[in-house]
Amino acid sequence: MVKCVKAPLKDAQTMKKDLIERDLLNHNYFTKKDSEYIYFPVKEDYEGEYKTANIEANSRKTTIAIPFKEALKEILSEKELEIAKTAFDHLGEIAIIEIPEELRVKEKEIANKLLESNPLVKTVLRKDDIHDGVFRTQKMKYLAGKETKIATYRENNCTLKVNVEEVYFSARLSTERKRIYKMIKEGEEVLVMFSGAAPYPCVFAKNTNAKHIDGVEINPAGHQFGLENIKRNKVENKISLYCGDVREIVPKLNKKYDRIVMPLPKTAEEFLDVAIPVANKNAIIHMYAFYHEDEFHKATDEIDKYCKQLNREYKLLEIAKSGQHAPRTYRICVDFQLLN
Ligand SMILES: C[S@@+](CC[C@H](N)C(=O)[O-])C[C@H]1O[C@@H](n2cnc3c(N)ncnc32)[C@H](O)[C@@H]1O
Repeated sequence: MVKCVKAPLKDAQTMKKDLIERDLLNHNYFTKKDSEYIYFPVKEDYEGEYKTANIEANSRKTTIAIPFKEALKEILSEKELEIAKTAFDHLGEIAIIEIPEELRVKEKEIANKLLESNPLVKTVLRKDDIHDGVFRTQKMKYLAGKETKIATYRENNCTLKVNVEEVYFSARLSTERKRIYKMIKEGEEVLVMFSGAAPYPCVFAKNTNAKHIDGVEINPAGHQFGLENIKRNKVENKISLYCGDVREIVPKLNKKYDRIVMPLPKTAEEFLDVAIPVANKNAIIHMYAFYHEDEFHKATDEIDKYCKQLNREYKLLEIAKSGQHAPRTYRICVDFQLLN
């Protein structure tokens, strides 16, 4: 039995709007109606002015998600649908959507449609700006469902927890993390610069026989979630995390590595002078960058420049695309090997 508020059918729209605005709907169940009344499932602690009734309502948990675009047809005009962004990031139970300025007046309705149409989504947040600043974080506005910004998410045999506003995190990189862990050989010493909440270190430790993985992250919140994540995945003995600027921390570690990952696409090139000196002979470096497809050479030019300065010979292995940033502009990972 589920607690519902009961309204004559003629009042359905007004009541629904009111319940949505006050965040009182219980999204775990479907709305029900008979010939006279409509029943909206509400949160258990609801004690308001509307009449309530306990009724049998169907759980949404066992239902299959309806495509978001289909669900939006119920509340948006054709013109509005054209500008609506129907792709969204899904991190555990949190969905992160983008809503263009023109549709912001309907943002709560849009968010509630997503909750209704996808039983796996329990919270809807909206990106409020672009990834910015040294920490590459992004403001998020809470729109609907359970009020939280902490996601617990599974990928590559790991459970990762992160506050999506305080720490950079992208589930879209899970395939990229897999691409790299598949290359890691037994006994490798690995360095992950810019480790964030430690998704790369955890995925490497869980899926490979690397000897040890060091991670360095400047954002204290990211570092803190990283520490929790290595505990959660029981890989503390294979990972050491350090909080600070790679430029200061890495030289002090006094170690050499067989593999170095540099997942900071905007400015990773500027840290090649930190990475290359701590790379063993035959080490492989994975350096990320954002470039238009006509300008991938700019990334390899930087590698060439730094290797020459530091008297290291190298071989380019691959330029892998791992996401599209803008039309014909990609997040690329340049894999190169140091030969001496
Ligand atoms: C694009 S995010 C990647 C985070 C993580 N590797 C992931 O994939 O989720 C880049 C990270 O680099 C960190 N960062 C930026 N500059 C840094 C520096 N100089 N030293 C250490 N970390 C830095 C940021 O705080 C951010 O968490």
